[in-house]
Amino acid sequence: MSPPTARARLAAVLGDPVVHSLSPLLHNHWFARLGIDGVYLALRVPAEVFDETLRLLPALGFRGFNVTIPHKERAFRAVDRRDRAAEVCGAVNTVRVEADGSLTGLNTDGFGFLAHLRRRVPGWRPEAGPTVVLGAGGAARAVVAALLEAGVGEVRIVNRTRPRAERLIADLAPHFPTARLSAVDWTARGEALTGAALLVQTTSLGMHGMPSLELPLDSLPRRAVVAEVVYVPSETDLLRRARKRGHPVVDGLGMLIWQAVPGFRHWGGVEPPVDGTVEALLLEGLRATPPAK
Ligand SMILES: NC(=O)c1ccc[n+]([C@@H]2O[C@H](COP(=O)([O-])OP(=O)(O)OC[C@H]3O[C@@H](n4cnc5c(N)ncnc54)[C@H](OP(=O)(O)O)[C@@H]3O)[C@@H](O)[C@H]2O)c1
Repeated sequence: MSPPTARARLAAVLGDPVVHSLSPLLHNHWFARLGIDGVYLALRVPAEVFDETLRLLPALGFRGFNVTIPHKERAFRAVDRRDRAAEVCGAVNTVRVEADGSLTGLNTDGFGFLAHLRRRVPGWRPEAGPTVVLGAGGAARAVVAALLEAGVGEVRIVNRTRPRAERLIADLAPHFPTARLSAVDWTARGEALTGAALLVQTTSLGMHGMPSLELPLDSLPRRAVVAEVVYVPSETDLLRRARKRGHPVVDGLGMLIWQAVPGFRHWGGVEPPVDGTVEALLLEGLRATPPAK
């Protein structure tokens, strides 16, 4: 592949800090592999200049952005329009620069979670039974919204800070009036698994540098799918225990890869490949630069 030219398609991730981002590795791999003349940068953007940066870069020819910590809510406010997932989550992680220079904000985390779940466990069905989600942060919001959009009828949200789970439910319920959403005390997380068809772990527990998740799986039906959003390590203790019990398991790395697909479709102009090569590339990138917690 020849080096980028003066006509290169431009895209970037905006964050602060941004040095741990895997996005440049991923998007530049796709550009090179698909023979597209393109460049993807990591730009550290302090909060004070975020809004003006978001307007300036399109004027310089950028086709779009990913947005990471701490700017996802700021991006939500700054764009001209948002897709339904962004509206429901109150956060934007991908910005498309449209032909007229206006900005469309997307939230692709839920799409990424669901795409990877469906790829890993093709037999999974939204109507299979209740879902238990551990956590009520940004990742939980995106995952719960995507599951409800897909047709899951009941979600139990278990969070250490119960009012945060209640807030999540209050925010999402108007968008999904027929869904059954309940908050569960953190101390009751083991019992909450009774009868569940899917368990999704969205807290930062079990991540490199964080305490491990203490969760007995005895009440979880053997056919239940167990999914993680944590991707360092690529197999968390929860996934290892679930795999040993015979559950179908879904790792967090695939979600990270799939959430990047809608952005690349826009700035690359084609569907990027998601396969073992991409996964190996990111695992290598994580070994070289583990994320800060
Ligand atoms: N795979 C992917 O593409 C992807 C995408 C997004 C995020 N993630 C990962 O998902 C994890 C959460 O991210 P986030 O953006 O949702 O973070 P967040 O908004 O800060 O939420 C963190 C969640 O973890 C819980 N938590 C933290 N420490 C805890 C502890 N000691 N005991 C019990 N619960 C604890 C929090 O509970 P409280 O409300 O009680 O504080 C909250 O529910 C991170 O590891 C992140 O890397 C992965």
